[in-house]
Amino acid sequence: MRAVRLTIVERRAPAPEHVELMVDAKDLAGRLVPGQFLHVAAGGTLRRPLSVSRVEGARLGMLFRVVGAGTAWLAERDVGETVDVMGPLGQGYPPPPPGPLALVGGGVGIPPLFFYAQRWPDAALSVLLGARDHDSLIMVDDFRGLGLRPGLCTDDGSRGKRGRVTGLLRDWFLEHPDGSVMACGPAPMLHEVARLTAAAGRPAWLGFEQRMGCGVGACLACVVPGAPGGDRVWYRVCTDGPVFARETLYGEGRP
Ligand SMILES: Cc1cc2nc3c(=O)[nH]c(=O)nc-3n(C[C@H](O)[C@H](O)[C@H](O)COP(=O)(O)OP(=O)(O)OC[C@H]3O[C@@H](n4cnc5c(N)ncnc54)[C@H](O)[C@@H]3O)c2cc1C
Ligand code: FES
Repeated sequence: MRAVRLTIVERRAPAPEHVELMVDAKDLAGRLVPGQFLHVAAGGTLRRPLSVSRVEGARLGMLFRVVGAGTAWLAERDVGETVDVMGPLGQGYPPPPPGPLALVGGGVGIPPLFFYAQRWPDAALSVLLGARDHDSLIMVDDFRGLGLRPGLCTDDGSRGKRGRVTGLLRDWFLEHPDGSVMACGPAPMLHEVARLTAAAGRPAWLGFEQRMGCGVGACLACVVPGAPGGDRVWYRVCTDGPVFARETLYGEGRP
C-alpha cells in the first residue's frame, strides 16, 4: 500500500498528555470504516498504528496519548506540517446489528468508538467509557455533542463511578438483555467483555490495540491465538483485525 502525506489543519489538546491531529484527507475520509487504523510515520521510529477518531467532511482526526518516542514526535507536529500515513488498514466494526448496542471504550480505545457513533447516528447506542483517571477519560463531551449520555467510570473514582467499565457493562445487560457490544481497549478489558457477552449469549466485536511492526501482515509481530478448534491457530491483528468477532478468538463457548 502506498503512503500519502496529509497536511495537519488543526491541532487539539483535549486532555493532559493527549493530542488530536486533524488532517486534510479528502481521498481517504470517505473510505474509512470505524475501527480501521492508519499506520503513521513517527520520526525515527517504526510507523505507529492510530485509529481514526472522527471524520469531519474531508478532514479526519487521530487522537492519541503521548506514551513514548513516536507519539511524542507526533505530538510536536503543528498546523501546516504533513504526516506520512498508510491506510486505511485492517478490518473495522460491522454496521449496528438490530436492537440496543453498547459502545464500550477503555482509555485510548475510545476514539474509534466515537467515530462509530458519528457514523451511525440513528443506531440505538449506549456509550460506556472507562479510564484510569479523570484526565484519561477522553471524548466525553464529543459523545454528548452527538446527543448521547455516556456512562463513566475511572479506576480511581476521580470521574464517574469508581471501577472498571466492564462493571458498567454488567449493569447495562440487566436492562438490555437483547443488547450487542462493540468494544475497544486494553486486552484485559476485552477479555472481560468477551466473558460477559458470552455469558449473556450476546454478540460482541472487539478492537485490539496491541503493539505492531509492519502493519500490513508481513512480520507477524501482532499475532493473537485463534479459538481452539476454530479456522486458524493464529490471527494477525493488523490484517485480520484489529476488530474481531468474539467467537473468532474465543470460540462459541464461554471464555
Ligand atoms: C489498531 C491500533 C489502533 C490504535 N489506536 C490508538 C489511538 O487511537 N490512540 C492512541 O493513543 N493509541 C492508539 N494505539 C496505540 C498506539 O499505537 C501506541 O500507543 C503507540 O504505538 C506508542 O508508540 P510510542 O513510540 O509513542 O511508544 P513506545 O516508545 O513504542 O512505547 C512506550 C510505552 O507504551 C507501551 N506501548 C506501546 N504501544 C502500546 C500498545 N499498542 N498498547 C499498550 N502499550 C503500548 C510500551 O510498552 C512502552 O511502555 C493503537 C494501536 C493499535 C494497534
Ligand atoms: S504488524 Fe506485521 S504482521 Fe501485523
